[in-house]
Amino acid sequence: MADFSFAGDTFDLDAPEDREILRFVLSQALFGEATGVYCGKSLYAARSLEAARFYLRQARQELNHLELFAEIFRTLDLQPVPAHWVIKLLSAHNNYYPLKVFMEHAVGEGMVLDIFRDVLMAALPDTDPRVEEIKKKLAVVCREEEEHIAWGEKETRRILTESPWLRHPFYGLLELQLALAPIVTRAFSGRTAQHRVLRHLPRFVTHVKERVWAQGQELGFVPRERPALPYRLFAMAWGVALFVRSQFARSTSTLEKTYLTELGFSP
Ligand SMILES: [Fe+2]
Ligand SMILES: [Fe+2]
Repeated sequence: MADFSFAGDTFDLDAPEDREILRFVLSQALFGEATGVYCGKSLYAARSLEAARFYLRQARQELNHLELFAEIFRTLDLQPVPAHWVIKLLSAHNNYYPLKVFMEHAVGEGMVLDIFRDVLMAALPDTDPRVEEIKKKLAVVCREEEEHIAWGEKETRRILTESPWLRHPFYGLLELQLALAPIVTRAFSGRTAQHRVLRHLPRFVTHVKERVWAQGQELGFVPRERPALPYRLFAMAWGVALFVRSQFARSTSTLEKTYLTELGFSP
């Protein structure tokens, strides 16, 4: 799918209204990166050496992203604000591995990348002398987020092959995530029509939905046609039930039981 276009419209980094919008967007990013660091918790539950390597690497990268966003705040002389409740909900750590890789890595970080790459990289003005350094930092973040999404997609595919029934709750949760995420944009309600960049927002929300929908079809749990309401409700109820149950899931370690085979020794 083609990248989103703001048709060359950019923020003015000296205009108070634009600075307020960027402060909001960057504050969500800063919070997301802070919670991203706690993917380190998944190291404890890693089921293979490959997963352990991934979470070790991701934790280091997310810690670096957190510091890069802090530097962007300092470069722009902005103060972060607390995160929106939807961001807090969507970025909460999940101990239940199938939901972690699907909701957080594949879909969640996928939407994060849409915002970093299609909004921040596109709508920051190259004419401002501060932007070159900021974009270099964002390029590092975007490249690494792509790795996290790829891991999420690979693991989601594997999990759906092992447990095909999960496609129902996954589909329901995707519907819910797509309904929840645009609530964040209500922070700009009333301003979208007149603002140079914000006027593209409704089109951007549609673009993200279509991309996530196509991603779900690719991963094999979103039907070609949007199903009728009864199935959607059934899938959403199942998704919510699984999510609630996941909140009580305990992190269990496996590597101390599997390390011999993982390392190629006979058990
Ligand atoms: Fe990150
Ligand atoms: Fe990430």
